[in-house]
Amino acid sequence: MKLFAKQPISRMIESSEGGEHHLKRSLGPWSLISLGIGAIIGAGLFSLTGIAAAENAGPAVVLSFVVAAVGCAFAGMCYSELASMIPVAGSAYTYTYATMGEFIAWIIGWDLVLEYAVAASVVAVSWSRYVKSFLHDLHIDLPAKFMACPFDTITLADGTQAHGIVNVPAILIIVLISLLLMIGIKESAWVNSTIVIIKLVVVLTFVAVGVHYINPANYHPFIPENTGKFGEFGWSGVMRAAGVIFFAYIGFDTVSTAAQESKTPHRDVPIGILGSLVICTVLYLAFASVLTGMLNYQAMRGDAAPVATAINLTPYPWLQVMIKLGIIAGFTSVILVMLLGQSRVFYSMSRDGLLPKLFSDIHPAWRTPWRSNLLFMAFVGFFAGFFPISKLGHMTSIGTLLAFIIVCAGVMVLRYTQPLVPRPYRVPCFPLFPFLGILVCLSMMTALDGDTWWRLMIWLVIGLIVYFTYSRFNSKLNKGG
Ligand code: ALA
Repeated sequence: MKLFAKQPISRMIESSEGGEHHLKRSLGPWSLISLGIGAIIGAGLFSLTGIAAAENAGPAVVLSFVVAAVGCAFAGMCYSELASMIPVAGSAYTYTYATMGEFIAWIIGWDLVLEYAVAASVVAVSWSRYVKSFLHDLHIDLPAKFMACPFDTITLADGTQAHGIVNVPAILIIVLISLLLMIGIKESAWVNSTIVIIKLVVVLTFVAVGVHYINPANYHPFIPENTGKFGEFGWSGVMRAAGVIFFAYIGFDTVSTAAQESKTPHRDVPIGILGSLVICTVLYLAFASVLTGMLNYQAMRGDAAPVATAINLTPYPWLQVMIKLGIIAGFTSVILVMLLGQSRVFYSMSRDGLLPKLFSDIHPAWRTPWRSNLLFMAFVGFFAGFFPISKLGHMTSIGTLLAFIIVCAGVMVLRYTQPLVPRPYRVPCFPLFPFLGILVCLSMMTALDGDTWWRLMIWLVIGLIVYFTYSRFNSKLNKGG
């Protein structure tokens, strides 16, 4: 039983080039950048920025965005090198299978559930908050207890405080999108481009209008003094906030999953990954500066829709409607991409024999892994309905940071073990940049709270149990398949 058996790179590329699962190579550099932006801009920016400013960093959340962007840039270069070398679908899981073998690939695949499935719950919770706020503007108020989870404290109509019961809209959007995925509606390129344009217009409009309503006093103190607890303001707060808002950058790696559909993956995948990252970083810095300038960070505590609150400061009610609708549409596409990414990773793992066949069972008429979609609908819906956004967001951040660290390490391992395989894109300043990628991502991970670490450990232990009781006995590679 070989724990570290590797899939040969040449075989992966060969098997992706032929057969009925051959994907059409139709995406150019702009489509890839647009794919990246479509997956990146979402709840992280519109909901977590406020939470991170209120609880961890104050106005210095802008610096946290810089730290997270630096970590993502290094990781993005590593993803680019691997994607240009191994231009097949499957992303981090596939690269790891080729570089560090089955066991680590399993860990990554299992860990990616935190990136994709749990992120879908986070965005669904945030979606529900913006829908609530939008309906409120239309004088429609649904029962608050059914729009919040049991961990949330809500203020009832009579002013008393209570706990929520279940977040029904969050479950609803997960069910709807899962059904769409089941019957085979993928996001087509033009729908994605339209949503991307809407998102860009929303962010740019917010920045252009909001900049006139900044109160400079809100920037003082820029880095509020640490409260005595690690992660609550001061520099440790800036680092913890970086770990939290890191969520906002997640998604650029989906560009690498489209390597197999790209016309010239060697050139365009790196352009797609790094281009979408650069554009989002610039937008995020502008957005965070304006938001923390408009609202005092302390006032953002407990406010899950701070953008809506900030717009209330302007005399443009139409802006409220436009921005909220844009945000709601934008979140919908992020949920779709995340759920799609999730089913793709589990599909690959199931085809490799590491997960039961049910995850790669294709519906005869719909041609989709519908059972997998159904199962994730229940899993993601449960989390979205019953857990608070901040806890879920932290889980996604820590899980994705771990995946990025393994990808950076993968680049280093491959440069030494397979130096002769052609690399159309190479990470510059090797081995410094992959090493810095590991370092920055690790520092963001360590800045996250202890409970989040415990949850990550528990999740990985469950994964190990599954691996040692099921996967290693069914692995096709180990069986010589
Ligand atoms: N980056 C994505 C978001 O912020 C996951 O919603």
